[in-house]
Order: sequence, then structure tokens, then C-alpha cells
Amino acid sequence: MNAALEQIKQEIISGAEEVKSSKEAYEFRKKFLDGKTGKIGLLMREMKNIPPEQRADYGKGVNELKEWAMGIISELDIKMKSKELLERYEAEKIDISLPAEKSEQGNLHPITLIRNQLIDIFAGMGFEIFDGPEIETDYYNFTALNTPQDHPARDMQDTFYLSPEFLLRTQTSAGQIHVMENKKPPIKILSPGKVFRSDDDATHSPMFTQMEGLVVDKGITLCDLQGMLDVFVKKIYGENTKTRLRPSYFPFTEPSVEVDCSCFECGGKGCKLCKGTGWIEILGAGVVNDKVLENCGVDPNEYSGFAFGIGIERTAMLKYGINNIKLLFESDLRVLKQLND
Ligand code: DAH
Repeated sequence: MNAALEQIKQEIISGAEEVKSSKEAYEFRKKFLDGKTGKIGLLMREMKNIPPEQRADYGKGVNELKEWAMGIISELDIKMKSKELLERYEAEKIDISLPAEKSEQGNLHPITLIRNQLIDIFAGMGFEIFDGPEIETDYYNFTALNTPQDHPARDMQDTFYLSPEFLLRTQTSAGQIHVMENKKPPIKILSPGKVFRSDDDATHSPMFTQMEGLVVDKGITLCDLQGMLDVFVKKIYGENTKTRLRPSYFPFTEPSVEVDCSCFECGGKGCKLCKGTGWIEILGAGVVNDKVLENCGVDPNEYSGFAFGIGIERTAMLKYGINNIKLLFESDLRVLKQLND
């Protein structure tokens, strides 16, 4: 009997050296310790055939062998598993000192940048945003803005008509009417958006972006407009920039003005950008015409207001020194990458 146990023991000792993986360790354990088929398991099952007087010794011997085998094989299993783990670490090793692959970062388009900047400046002065429709009726785009059919001022804006009644808005000024129809003064709104005109050259595009401003309250004058514009130009073109108002004509404002700012390139001395004048035209504005207030049910004896319209592309072209408006629409990354400060 002892010889049989000794033989199994030797088999385990020499067999253990052949085990090379945790899977083999598992098979090895089964070969000896499986309750039904394992070599030690079979010895245990033999117990009932052993004469009673030898049974105690037999059981003791088999149990000792079993305990010993379990220890050896568990150790083997742990050894194999940790060896495999080390091999996996080695195989999956990454070099964190390698420089990362460069990923391109997107930027906001210059039109969006200027638009956001203008919104920031005016929101800081208490303006709210009104988003008007791009398809307008003739009434909102022209008639209510004191520009009825056959008014010569209609020629100032070449219009895309969709039908005799509907058109693509030519100016965000149309938003003034929507706002005044729906809200009693005090009104202080900013209406940014796309506008459309049949116009196409280096400084004009059939689609461009405007930002309309409207303030209506008791006692509003042209001085309020100039005060606000002074703040605006300093923020967008620099602290030393000044404004001046020149008389102009728009049907929806009376008086109407063209607003210039001192040239931010030469400081007013005269250069190529300001064509030697020292001044750059930046927007149209004026005191809201009484007729426009009346068209919207606002009493001109009680209220007055000012309005202004800024061309975003023009602002971007001046700010970034671009001489062709198409560069803002062609999505050429070589250009856009230079325009994202
Ligand atoms: N709507 C005018 C245009 O597109 C710009 C403008 C001028 C807007 C004077 C105004 C304004 O509100 O008062 O040419």
C-alpha cells in the first residue's frame, strides 16, 4: 500500500515539473484529485474494500497524501497564474512616454466669432435677442418699415421675391416690426441673422449676416445712440476708437445717420484702409421714424427710439483685414486658421 502512495507521490513530483500553464495545472489537479476519476480520489473510493482492521491506517495514509497533493498543486496553480499575468503585462505594455498623435482642433468661424462678440457687448448693455424669420412678407420687410410699394428706397436692396407677397428678408430691420407688435416699450432688442440680396462682388454676397438693434422707451434721443455706439466701438476696435455721425437716409429712421469710427489701423491719420480719410463707415442707424412706431401701434407722442444695423461680414473684414467677402464663405482652412483670435 505504502508503495502505491509513494508511487503517486513521485508521479506528482515529477509531473509538476512538466506543468507549464494554469490550464495544465487545472488538468493536473483533475488527474489526481478529482473525486471520481482522480488517482487519489480512486484510492479514497477503495476505502470500502479495505479490511476493517487496516482501514484506519489506509485512510490516514491516503488523507495525508491528498493534503500534500492539494498543497503542491495549489502552489503550482498560483505560480502558473502569476507567471501568466506577468507575461500579459509584458505583452500589453504601452509606452506612455511616446508623443501623442496630434489631433486637429476645430474653431468657430470668424462670422460666428464676431456675432458672439457683438451679442456679448450688447447683452452687457441689457439687450435681449430676437430671432426673426428669414422668409418674410413684403409688409414686414418693407411696407411697415415705411417703404411702401414703388418707394424709391426699395431700389437700394435688390430683393429675392418668392411670390408677390413673400420674399427672403433683405434686412434684419424686419425684426423691429415683429418685436414692437408683440411687446410694449421699454424695448431693447438685438436681432442677428442671415439676410439676402441679389448682389455679388468683392464686398457683397447674395447671403450675408446683419445684426439689428432697437431701443424704444420714453425720451430716447440720438445722444443715447451715440453714447451706446461709443461703448461698442471701443470694445470691438480698441479703447482709442471714436465715432462720428454723418447725415444719411433710411426710410425707417428720421433723422438717419451713417456711423463712422476713427480708423483703428492708422489712428485717424489716414491710410489705405480708411482711404486716407481717417474714418471708416461701420453701420447705419437713426431715430425710429414716427410712421414705423405708428404702424406697430406705438404712440410716437409718448415713446421714441433708435435703431441701428450692423453688417457682420463687413465688421469681420475690417477687423481681420480681409478684402474679399468670398473668403468668409469659401471654407478654405488656410484662410480660416488665420482668423480665429
Ligand atoms: N437695414 C439697413 C440696411 O440693411 C441698415 C440699417 C440702417 C438698419 C439704419 C437700421 C437703421 O436699423 O436705423 O441697409
